[in-house]
Parts: sequence; C-alpha cells; structure tokens
Amino acid sequence: MEPDVKLTKLASCAGCGAKVGAGTLVKMLDGFRTHTDPRLIVGYDKSDDASVYMVSDDTAIVQTTDFFPPIVDDPFLYGQIAATNALSDVYAMGGEPKLALNIMCLADSMDDKIVREILRGGYDKAYEAGAIITGGHTIHGAEPIYGLAVTGFVHPKRVLTNSGARPGDVLILTKPLGVGILTTAAKADLVKPETMNAIYKQMATLNKTARDIMLRFTVHSCTDVTGFSLMGHSFEMAQGSGMSLHIDSLSVPFHMEALEFADMGFIPAGAYRNRTYVEKGILKKCEIPRALEDIFFDPQTSGGLLIAVAEKDAKDCLAALQAEIPNAAQIGYVTELHENYLILE
Ligand code: CO
Ligand code: CO
Ligand code: CO
Repeated sequence: MEPDVKLTKLASCAGCGAKVGAGTLVKMLDGFRTHTDPRLIVGYDKSDDASVYMVSDDTAIVQTTDFFPPIVDDPFLYGQIAATNALSDVYAMGGEPKLALNIMCLADSMDDKIVREILRGGYDKAYEAGAIITGGHTIHGAEPIYGLAVTGFVHPKRVLTNSGARPGDVLILTKPLGVGILTTAAKADLVKPETMNAIYKQMATLNKTARDIMLRFTVHSCTDVTGFSLMGHSFEMAQGSGMSLHIDSLSVPFHMEALEFADMGFIPAGAYRNRTYVEKGILKKCEIPRALEDIFFDPQTSGGLLIAVAEKDAKDCLAALQAEIPNAAQIGYVTELHENYLILE
C-alpha cells in the first residue's frame, strides 16, 4: 500500500534509535522506594529484557513493553516491525508470548486507513507469535507511536537472563547489524530498495524460531540486541554475568552497505549515546576501522538474539540455528572477568 502520508517524516527519530540512553535511565530511577518480593525473579536492577514473576512452581509471568515512532513509511510494515520488536523481549527471556496490549499515539495527519494498517501489522505478528491482543490504549499526540505491552509465560527454572553467561560459553548472534545506519541513510533516499527490503524483512522477523531452537540446548544467557547496540547489550551481559565477553570483530554479521554509509557519516544519534555508555568497558586488542566500530554501536530495531550457549552444545546449536536462520553466526566466547568486560579481538 502506498500511503499519502510519509510516516517517517512525522517522526523525529527512527525506531529503537529513539530509545533513551541506558545511563540516563539508571540515574532517573535512583532512590525510589519499591517493594521487594522473592517471587520477582527478574526486576529492573539487572537491566534485563523483561521482568519475570513466579506465580507457581512451574509458571512465571514475563512482562515487557516496547514502542517507537515510525521507522518505515508503509503502515502495515511499521505495525509488524513494532510488534516483532516488542514480542522479542519475551523470547529473549526464553518465554512464550501469550497476551498483548496495543500502545498507540496518533498524529492528526493520519487517517483511519493508515491507523488500521498499523494495527493490522501488529495483529499479524501477534498472531504468528501465538499471542492474543486483548486491548490497548490510544491517544493523540505530535508524533505517531506504536508498540505493544506483552505478557508471556516461562518455566521459572528455564528463565534466560542477560546475566547468566559462564566461562567457555560460545556467543551467537542471530541477525546481522547495521539496521540503524541504513534506516538513517534511507531517510535521505540513499539506500538501494533491495537493501532496504531485506532490512525491513529482517526487522519483521520474529525471534520465535531462534528462541525455539536455542531452548533445545544448554543456554546460559540470552538478550536481544536492540537500541543499546551489540556493544551495549553485550556489555550488560558481561557486567550482569561478571564475565568478560570476547567479540571476534571479523565474525560479527552485518549488512555490507551499512559500512559504506557509516563511512559517509550516516550515524544515528543513539550510536553516539551507546559509545559514551560502554566505551570504558571495552578493551580493543586489534585495529578496527571506525565504520565497523560504528556498526557495533549502531542501535538495532527488532534485532536478533545474542545467545551464550554452553561450549559442549555450541556446535550443534549453531548448526541448528543456521539451518533455519542462515545469518546466525558465532561471534565470540566468554571467559572469567579479566582486563575488561568487553574484549574486541
Ligand atoms: Co531487549
Ligand atoms: Co525492549
Ligand atoms: Co533475557
């Protein structure tokens, strides 16, 4: 569908690039009173993808929300991507999404047809995920926003946090990087349509398959790579786990064209925030071209899963993932903490 209104022109920043920096959030929440509850398995303190609350010995609730301004002009695709991204945090915890609520803000220039298409995209992905959208909340505002609040379930003993990585674990990433840089360049109509179509398809691909496959193996830790970039999310995994994550710079999958546009300076603002946030936690053991580094700090919208799989299962897990997700790649490994949290090799 060719919309009359260019959705991305109504947005001041694209997708997960709109995310507020991690350091900023931690400061803002400092000192608030909260209840403690032993049944809260995962709370805010570990900057994980979702919170997890144990209801019984075999059931825990996974809760999360994500929304952002339009990252594409096609409203159906925008709805699909926003929903895929929101559902992803449940998958990153090893959970299965079950219920969802629409979160929406409408700009005055959006007609009913566009709004319906955005929602249709959201319902399409919720359906594919096996989740039910049971309601939501919609307001009027200056910029369009769409996303979901998602509730899922997981066995309390099978929760995958971003702080469980162990020495010897192998790191796997399931989607290539460069989404933020390419969507920024696309705003200036500079990217080839084939490239953008591949990016859109990737952003609208659920992490369900990746989650289903990884659960067949001994996985110690998982998170999805989104607004805080590969570096930001790896750093949080390293810090949360008290380990060093070694990233093999030459093995990280990314979209080739992103390198070109990074060189030309099409860097989303979020990439600079991410760099500031994690720079001190990184030790570089090799020369890395600036443009490739920018890709490592690039905020991803609806990015892939970063999986820390036990060494004994790594080969089989990677093969099983690659059979369904050809872009999945081994990008590094975990050791006891030494030198720094992230080690680029
Ligand atoms: Co996440
Ligand atoms: Co999230
Ligand atoms: Co997780």
